[in-house]
Amino acid sequence: MTKLIRGGTVVTASDTYQADILIEGERVIAIGESIDAQGVEVIDATGCYVFPGGIDPHTHLDMPFGGTVTADDFETGTRAAAFGGTTTIIDFCLTSKGQSLQEALTLWHAKAEGKACIDYGFHLMIAETTDQILEQLQDVVEQGVTSLKVFMAYKNVFQADDETLFKTLIRAKELGALVQVHAENGDVIDYLTKKALAEGNVDPIYHALTRPPTAEGEATGRAIALTALADAQLYVVHVSCAEAVQRIAEAREKGWQIYGETCPQYLALDITYLEKPDFEGAKYVWSPPLREKWNQEVLWSALKSGILQTVGSDQCSFHFAEQKELGRGDFTKIPNGGPLIEDRFTVLYSEGVHQGRISLNQFVDITSTKTAKLFGMFPKKGTIAIGSDADIVIFDPRIERTLSVESHHMNVDYNPFEGMKVHGEPVTVLSRGEFVIRDKQFVGQKGAGQFIKRAKFKRP
Ligand code: URP
Ligand code: ZN
Ligand code: ZN
Repeated sequence: MTKLIRGGTVVTASDTYQADILIEGERVIAIGESIDAQGVEVIDATGCYVFPGGIDPHTHLDMPFGGTVTADDFETGTRAAAFGGTTTIIDFCLTSKGQSLQEALTLWHAKAEGKACIDYGFHLMIAETTDQILEQLQDVVEQGVTSLKVFMAYKNVFQADDETLFKTLIRAKELGALVQVHAENGDVIDYLTKKALAEGNVDPIYHALTRPPTAEGEATGRAIALTALADAQLYVVHVSCAEAVQRIAEAREKGWQIYGETCPQYLALDITYLEKPDFEGAKYVWSPPLREKWNQEVLWSALKSGILQTVGSDQCSFHFAEQKELGRGDFTKIPNGGPLIEDRFTVLYSEGVHQGRISLNQFVDITSTKTAKLFGMFPKKGTIAIGSDADIVIFDPRIERTLSVESHHMNVDYNPFEGMKVHGEPVTVLSRGEFVIRDKQFVGQKGAGQFIKRAKFKRP
């Protein structure tokens, strides 16, 4: 049935205005004042913002990591994402040496198909750059997987060397793909980690102390230098600190195609959380680690000025019981990552817009539009315009609530933002014209999400 969103304030990356939105099937077909409501289903958005659906550029669902598997799969993860106002995710497809890229992608499609409640795309990890792999990349890009990920950390697990990164950048330039890096110096971290353990320093805080900001700044700078040498394009994931921001800012000043993402945890939490007693610090183990608090304002101002363009959740959830607890007595065995897919959107609104750090339009740009542009989905996704997918969030900024494991929908036994008071809540969410969340209730369908074949990289 044709739907009409009536009475809300429409917000895009460039405009804020009062309008009704008419949706036919999967698309927006009209935007205007007082659209005739006869014979259509009316959705009242009075007092609410009407945002383009959030696009989360960074998730790890159903992913084996750290000797275990993430607690959220494509069903629970995308359902929670929808509750939080996200209508599209891009998940990381892992690969391993010796495996064909097609085999890896087929496995990731099987994880998502029939389970995802919202639309999804994939980034592809690059573990090696043999002639066969470089050849296979053409096919990968033609299938709409137009972003490639290289890990500069996690030695002996995912870490690739500079040659692999450089060859990936050169091939990406030829094929029109965007290269992403996890930028931390894995060799230095490996040394510092072994030293800490040898000295009997086993608590969660040593995860952060063995991954200093300079290890992130150095790797960020190195990745940028290799990108410049290859005349390619780079997106630095989960930027956590001022040293990395500085490198990105310098490169962008020179006009290089360098982009960056940060995550809610780096904007709202800090290194002291790793010192929580009774091993609770393990809940706050991310790589890169949480930093000293002053870095938060550097990240906010980088978002505001456009040095960083996006906020990803880096959703990589592990239960505290039995999963994070694997690292009791040895912080290196704590699975890295946390559950953020649900709260990314609201934390950015509340800490960003409500606190006056970013504008409403910047909020939309950061949570949706820029990701759609960088990752080949715009204008199908990332905006509210005639012809765009009707991925829409009706967000009530008047609601005040407290984030908690008691009320979240992620399949995990803690919430890193437990007790945090936030302003605003997505009350109704549509994905390609269908309700996924209606009046805060899940009414979507497992398997309704579609794979998004993304276009090649184009400078936004
Ligand atoms: O700690 C993190 N970030 N876990 C997820 C994997 C990654 O490095 O992105
Ligand atoms: Zn990473
Ligand atoms: Zn990640």
